[in-house]
Amino acid sequence: MRVLVVGSGGREHALAWRLTQSQSVSELFAAPGNSGTAALGENLPLADTDVDGIVSAALERSVDLVVVGPETPLAMGLCDRLQAAGIPAFGPSRAAARLESSKSFARSVMDAAGVPGPNYRVFESVSGALNYVQHYDHPVVVKADGLAAGKGVAMCANREDATYAIRSSMEERAFGVAGETVVIEDWLEGPEVSVFGFTDGVELSPVVAATDYKRIGEGGVGPNTGGMGSYGPPHFWTDELAETVRQDFMLPVIRELARRGTPYRGALYCGLMVTDAGPKVLEFNCRFGDPETQVIMPQLLSDPVEVMLACSTGSLADADPVSWSDRPAMAVVMVSDGYPGTYETGFPISGLTEGDWDPGSVVFHAGARLADDGDNVLTAGGRVLACVGIADELGDARDRAYRRAAQISFDGAYYRRDIGAEAIGSPATVG
Ligand code: GLY
Repeated sequence: MRVLVVGSGGREHALAWRLTQSQSVSELFAAPGNSGTAALGENLPLADTDVDGIVSAALERSVDLVVVGPETPLAMGLCDRLQAAGIPAFGPSRAAARLESSKSFARSVMDAAGVPGPNYRVFESVSGALNYVQHYDHPVVVKADGLAAGKGVAMCANREDATYAIRSSMEERAFGVAGETVVIEDWLEGPEVSVFGFTDGVELSPVVAATDYKRIGEGGVGPNTGGMGSYGPPHFWTDELAETVRQDFMLPVIRELARRGTPYRGALYCGLMVTDAGPKVLEFNCRFGDPETQVIMPQLLSDPVEVMLACSTGSLADADPVSWSDRPAMAVVMVSDGYPGTYETGFPISGLTEGDWDPGSVVFHAGARLADDGDNVLTAGGRVLACVGIADELGDARDRAYRRAAQISFDGAYYRRDIGAEAIGSPATVG
């Protein structure tokens, strides 16, 4: 089978890595891919938002399955176009992807499905939003309704912060049209977890959970990033919680979207917080998480091609049941100096190919590209790569991830040393 992965981050390298372990994959393409996917197949010089280009490339190369990583092409209807051209595509339709591309739509689906979440209000006018926060005595989260490249969520401890966030989104249009409507939710407290499952619009696989460390600094301080690390399963995760999330949160949303005539197919991502009043859903996303994918792909025991094809063709019930390893895994993300602010790129990365690698570890490239010599790898983004360890115990998975990180270097490389520390009881001591 010829498989095309759309996207260029660590998530897409992890997907490509797991897909090429399948006996059925003969050729892998990535659009546009990175230095990691280049080592597994052929990178096509197409932006992940170039819908026409991707459909043409898939047809020209007789691709049998397209796996779409990021949300933007999904929200643009890439899977609709591929399916219409007769190419099985793993990912939701444009209509179903609204679960991520419109926060207010997602809340209306969750309400109809009876899924618990924070109190919230939707505002299309600045005055309405400002009036609400002036008279509401609670810390809130102001969310741009549409896609804002992960930047549209403002945690507001007080009225001043909320006023600033509303004006910035709705008046100054910091996120363009995506922020013209805002959803204002109560700020909830508790550990956060990302939960993922495969669905064909009717069936939902067993789910898997991983954490995400969003802040740049150790101890959870400093600005938000795309994600500095992950481990799974989280230390507070239980079979009971997994069943609640699967049965009471994710399946009802899948049924509600099917009832509306827009069945959801692909990876379903439920972001939730375990509060004192029980788990509450913060968001649904229409794809796998990054860097959570770097943790869960090594845990996927099933054939990824069989599962993803079954999702795209509505035949998950006929496929072998999806199974996940319960061996813990951890991803430590290495970033460029200055990230998530401004940073320089183009620095050579050493330690990727040489060395006595631990077989329980793997490095997924993200903001990294092949140099013109086709050999060396250069930094090309903020999040450069993720070092992943998997083992029988979380502490050993962590040692493997950090040992690998210590073997890699580039100018200005930085990584948090406290990934999983709250689960293990101390920060990393190796690497
Ligand atoms: N890890 C968060 C996300 O992928 O949105």
